[in-house]
Amino acid sequence: MGERPYTILSCGMSLDGYLDAATNERLVLSNEADLERVDAVRAQCDAILVGAATVRNDNPRLLVRKPALRQQRMARGLRETPMKVTITEHAHLDACSRFFATGDSEKLVYCASRSVPIAHRRLGAVATVIDGGEPVDLTQMVRDLFDRGVRRLMVEGGGLVHTQFLTADLADELHLVVAPFFVGTSRAHRFVGDGAFPWNPRNRAHLAETRQIGDVVLLRYALSSRFAATC
Ligand SMILES: NC(=O)c1ccc[n+]([C@@H]2O[C@H](COP(=O)([O-])OP(=O)(O)OC[C@H]3O[C@@H](n4cnc5c(N)ncnc54)[C@H](OP(=O)(O)O)[C@@H]3O)[C@@H](O)[C@H]2O)c1
Repeated sequence: MGERPYTILSCGMSLDGYLDAATNERLVLSNEADLERVDAVRAQCDAILVGAATVRNDNPRLLVRKPALRQQRMARGLRETPMKVTITEHAHLDACSRFFATGDSEKLVYCASRSVPIAHRRLGAVATVIDGGEPVDLTQMVRDLFDRGVRRLMVEGGGLVHTQFLTADLADELHLVVAPFFVGTSRAHRFVGDGAFPWNPRNRAHLAETRQIGDVVLLRYALSSRFAATC
């Protein structure tokens, strides 16, 4: 297998395991102190990846917010903000969305083969469109990211993307933040969908850290042997 970036999955969920509330509005699961923590993790990464549904539903900027962290990156010869990466099958993405319109970093779109022409038309001016296969093959994608210089990758959802990284055993760490409330509808998206996960009743994941951050709790799991080397 070719090399792949050290990969951190990061996610907030409700007490009943949901990522959103099945509405058009973004659900705030984190608190300010936890957002600062996420900002610091972002600042240490070379790229941030989200699925196309998250780009559409949440319209995230995915920038490093704190000026001191941006300056530290620039002092290390890096762009202010890590590269932004998304995956899409149908390329129904808006070039004016914040994902593409904000930040000085390169934007990559890994697109299913049949939608590459439409992705070029819609996004060619604001992003690099890459034929990722049919559907996009995540193992190939992370190797390609490594070849493009990405050594540390942060995956910020949503559920379909997390499910694929976990079931393909492509994650080294999971940062799971639990918010102190229930969503209460199965129409919402869960943290992960169905799948054969490497961590199951016969193979429990290693809980490396728990941290209370105001009214939320961070659960940090080590998912690969590469984890220890980074602590
Ligand atoms: N709480 C949190 O921390 C957090 C973080 C992020 C997102 N969210 C929430 O999660 C929800 C979205 O989650 P989600 O599971 O529906 O979607 P998602 O994982 O964000 O994106 C799924 C989409 O990504 C594309 N995709 C994923 N894997 C692909 C593959 N192998 N090949 C080709 N395309 C692929 C497809 O895009 P196309 O549809 O374009 O073809 C698919 O519909 C949003 O409501 C958001 O609010 C929460």
